[in-house]
Amino acid sequence: RRLLADGGRAATRETCAGSRAPAEPLPIGLVAELTYRCPLRCGYCSNPVQIDPVRDELTTAEWIAVLDQARELGVLQVHFSGGEPLLRADLPDLIGHARALGMYTNLITSGIGRLEHLGGVDHVQLSVQHADTPLADAIAGIKAHEKKIAAAGLIRRAGLPLTVNVVLHAANVDRLADIAAFAAGLGADRLELAHTQYYGWGLRNRAALMPSVAQVRRAALAAAEVHERWGGVMEIVYVEPDHHTGRPKPCMNGWGARQLAVTPTGVVLPCLAAQQLPGPPAPTVRQQGLADIWYHSELFNRYRGTAWMPSPCRDCELREVDFGGCRCQAFQLTGDPAATDPACSLSPHHGELAVLRKTPMIPRRYR
Ligand code: SF4
Ligand code: FES
Repeated sequence: RRLLADGGRAATRETCAGSRAPAEPLPIGLVAELTYRCPLRCGYCSNPVQIDPVRDELTTAEWIAVLDQARELGVLQVHFSGGEPLLRADLPDLIGHARALGMYTNLITSGIGRLEHLGGVDHVQLSVQHADTPLADAIAGIKAHEKKIAAAGLIRRAGLPLTVNVVLHAANVDRLADIAAFAAGLGADRLELAHTQYYGWGLRNRAALMPSVAQVRRAALAAAEVHERWGGVMEIVYVEPDHHTGRPKPCMNGWGARQLAVTPTGVVLPCLAAQQLPGPPAPTVRQQGLADIWYHSELFNRYRGTAWMPSPCRDCELREVDFGGCRCQAFQLTGDPAATDPACSLSPHHGELAVLRKTPMIPRRYR
């Protein structure tokens, strides 16, 4: 099976079953959002603010069928995520099944829960809120920091590669050096420092989370120093805040191009936040096969490629680099999901972001 140098875009390839697929990109990754339940209460959580009842979550058999169909479709990596995936008692079975299908398995976890059964896991991403215990616990909303340190030890003793994920916001962005030293102390192979994305709870709490312009400037300098100091020990990834850079993020590496997400109740989405967009109800694995959804659903085809793009994206030389930015952010900020992402300096709405940038507010408990 051939993976194209263009990242799997606009290809015609053979599926695992040998049948010819339409001239569409194949998904490389599946984000399996096993549950939205989570013991933490982070204010930047991208989970929907209203979630389906736990009783409606996919059963083990349904998730097994999703994994089978994903592999058949060509998926190579499964990201077991949530909420907190450790809260699903069947997680070891699902990981084992994905591994048996030959897929790379990535566990995205808070580290709070039963982490003893790591068999079949290829890589772990552990979320960390801060380097200091009281501040980290304040951000997480529970006493979690010491448990995360223990979880990192467990992951390292299991011989697994460890990425430490830190979401940056007004309450921790001035402490990148401390956070990097802390991650190195945990034995991380990779540290991802990514500014908050404003979806779900993150959108609701945007005023509290948004760093000031001065903080973002300081963070860019601190990130360079962190690279200098720790780049030889672990890989450092610093994801800039698109609200401040004038450059939109290439969200999901293009709509319906590389990844798909399945929610706890089986809704299939091109990105985790797509359910907020206006339009027909999103497809679900309880009513449709995954391949049918990927190739033929209205939702996955809505912003695929570049033909849907408005001006200025339509004629922009970067349209196949950032794909016009993020559809969900465009919708949230302009009311039109097909608009150029206002994070782009060429968007007619870009000036409106300045208002958001000027209203940071750090809650007292985080100071
Ligand atoms: Fe990207 Fe569109 Fe901005 Fe060009 S105009 S940089 S394609 S968002
Ligand atoms: Fe939905 Fe970016 S989060 S397209």
